[in-house]
Amino acid sequence: MEIVVEGNKKVNGQVSVPGDKSISHRAIIFGAIAQGETRINHFLHSQDCLNTLKCMSALGARIEKIDHSVIEIKGVGLNGLKKPDHILDVGNSGTTIRLLTGLLSGQRFNTVITGDDSLRKRPMQRIIEPLSLMAAKIGGENINRFAPLSIKGSKLNSIEYTLPVASAQVKSALLIAGLFTGGETVITEPQISRDHTERMLTFMKADIQVISPKIKITGKKVLQGAEIFIPGDISSAAYFFAAASARKGSKVIVKGVGINPTRTGIIEILKKMGAVIEISNVQMKSNEPRADIEIEGAELTGIEINKEIIGKLIDELPLIAVLATQAHGKTVVSDAKELRVKETDRITAIVTELKKMGASIIEKEDGFEINGSTRLKSAVCKSYNDHRMAMSLAVAGLYADGKTVIKDAECIDISYPEFFNTLKELIQ
Ligand code: S3P
Repeated sequence: MEIVVEGNKKVNGQVSVPGDKSISHRAIIFGAIAQGETRINHFLHSQDCLNTLKCMSALGARIEKIDHSVIEIKGVGLNGLKKPDHILDVGNSGTTIRLLTGLLSGQRFNTVITGDDSLRKRPMQRIIEPLSLMAAKIGGENINRFAPLSIKGSKLNSIEYTLPVASAQVKSALLIAGLFTGGETVITEPQISRDHTERMLTFMKADIQVISPKIKITGKKVLQGAEIFIPGDISSAAYFFAAASARKGSKVIVKGVGINPTRTGIIEILKKMGAVIEISNVQMKSNEPRADIEIEGAELTGIEINKEIIGKLIDELPLIAVLATQAHGKTVVSDAKELRVKETDRITAIVTELKKMGASIIEKEDGFEINGSTRLKSAVCKSYNDHRMAMSLAVAGLYADGKTVIKDAECIDISYPEFFNTLKELIQ
């Protein structure tokens, strides 16, 4: 499938976005191993989250879809999962494979877990190494570097571990494995990464303590099923913020967006670039904050982005590259090497595609440098089968002259199947 975006467009209106992807994965996993019932509201019905749901069903969790975004789970308890009768396939979802590897390491049965072509190129030593220190037995392709992973269920030890790279997926895999040990696991983060695991485990009464940068979890404590209300995904809302923020006369309101401070880097950066943003109706639900966010088009200026904030906006960096083409002056993104091991190498991909559109952008080993502002020209762009690339390029298309084509855009279904329809509602 390809999408075509007509350029030079303002956006106006009020929308809401589907549930947060990271939180949706965790709600399914923790609901499945909790005691009692969990009801998940505003679940993200996208390919990645449905893959988590399928894997947890194959592991014996009793999961019922009440409607498109409401899920009920009858938890089987910490020791109630069963051996699946096939290989688990996570598709494109890095979060699913990494979190489930932590979960499966401590079971009483063996499993094999794999994913699509892109997933099988993503680094897995980052979970295999620390999980092995906990006595997990995991084998992977190419000397334990890649999926498929074969996991021999084992009795795990607790550990003290400092993450070499800030990664919420690795942190979460270890915390989940920690639930199955008899002791206290202590994880130290080098920089901030999203803390949805810690928040949800606290909400479901795990024995967990966060004394930043350390997280301590003591195993064997049964999780309690709960009613979970998932906020709108700020990473999905970000496309509409970006579509509005650099064009005078545009104004978008996104209702009920998650504003967890480990995710709001995009708002902080937009404000620093000169965007006009108003946050209202702040509420706390299921231990996650949410709010309505209004953003109005303004003149933006370039900015420096480095490790202080990278963890809080990692998934928004391709979009920030697009915005930087519309900002006056220089934008420099550094300390973002992690982008090279996402669904695609997002540094090379965004630099290549924005160059096609006439942007002044230079690729760096750990980021990129952009000189703006540039009036983009339309182009035929590739998505690299990466959902965030496809949606970022759609926003770039709004700032271009003429019609921009994005090839292989069906990957958008990985995180936001309704994206294009919602964008069309806003375009004037
Ligand atoms: C995620 C963590 C992030 C992010 C990914 C989702 C999660 O990756 O890029 O899209 O749900 O834990 P890291 O593990 O690199 O932080």
